[in-house]
Amino acid sequence: MKHIILTGDRPTGKLHIGHYVGSLRRRVELQNSGDYDKIYIMIADAQALTDNFGEPEKVRANITEVALDYLACGIDPARATVFVQSYVSELTELTFYYMNLVTLSRLERNPTVKAEIRQKNFELSLPMGFLTYPVSQTADITAFRADTVPVGEDQLPMLEQAREIVRSFNGLYGETLTEPKAVLPENKSCLRLPGTDGMAKMSKSLGNCIYLSDSADEIKRKVMGMYTDPNHLKVSDPGNTKDNPTFIYLDAFCTDEHFKRYLPEYADLDEMKAHYERGGLGDMKVKKFLNAVLQEVLEPIRARREEFAKDIPAVWDILYKGSVEARKVAAETLSDVRKAMKIDYFADREGR
Ligand code: TRP
Repeated sequence: MKHIILTGDRPTGKLHIGHYVGSLRRRVELQNSGDYDKIYIMIADAQALTDNFGEPEKVRANITEVALDYLACGIDPARATVFVQSYVSELTELTFYYMNLVTLSRLERNPTVKAEIRQKNFELSLPMGFLTYPVSQTADITAFRADTVPVGEDQLPMLEQAREIVRSFNGLYGETLTEPKAVLPENKSCLRLPGTDGMAKMSKSLGNCIYLSDSADEIKRKVMGMYTDPNHLKVSDPGNTKDNPTFIYLDAFCTDEHFKRYLPEYADLDEMKAHYERGGLGDMKVKKFLNAVLQEVLEPIRARREEFAKDIPAVWDILYKGSVEARKVAAETLSDVRKAMKIDYFADREGR
């Protein structure tokens, strides 16, 4: 069997280091592993419009930002097809047929959708497009016959729903679609990177993100202002490393090499954590080390981003080429779907 990856992001803002450790870094590794026959990375503008329908300019501007973030992290258009969702109108048609295979109550039970409805105050005025976005996400995945979907933890309910729709389709109309599986980061700290303020999640509206495009000074300022253990008042106090975002970030980013370079008094993070927990290690020292690590990881990303940002039309050329290719692939799947559903009435006449 071929191994195919599809994944993507909504273009509602620049990508931050939570996106990076949660999914982006893994995508680049998978891309470079040579284990996959095809890799599709989608900028989900149509999905972004389901809750930003009043702000199309914002979505449009963020397509460029997200594309720059991808290229900066090492997504290589020669090895991965990067495309814009709305260009592939076949996805909308697939969504329409899949909608028959899911009930309203099942959609309303989707935990991610449920949380987002609350968060966006959609309880009394829920756009239908928003409620059905898990179905459109099933179309995104199946159109490319993806078996592997590298995502963050919050996307697991989408994958579960996609698998249900695939099974239901194949059961009714015969084996046509591929059942996908999610690939999550192995490192627990990468599953959901907290905000710099200690809140559970990085979010633009909370202003607690470190962006891939942040300058060296911004990164330093944000790290130095990070929330740590509020009970760790004196350096000699025993500290908590578990709910402490500085240590969670170190878990996600630092390697033993970083210790050799910047803090050779510890062999690894376990030793450093043990010192903090028993007391005697100050927050300032932790933050300085974290800053050194983040600067080292983010500097090359920022430099590549600035390089690509010099030629925005070239970035859109990449997206256009990817979108044309993606559309061809999705059209083939749609044709199989129509055949399976016995609605390919004119296929003979059109020589398909
Ligand atoms: N829901 C994803 C996000 O919010 C974006 C997305 C749309 C996606 N379709 C997808 C991710 C299909 C994986 C597979 O970032």
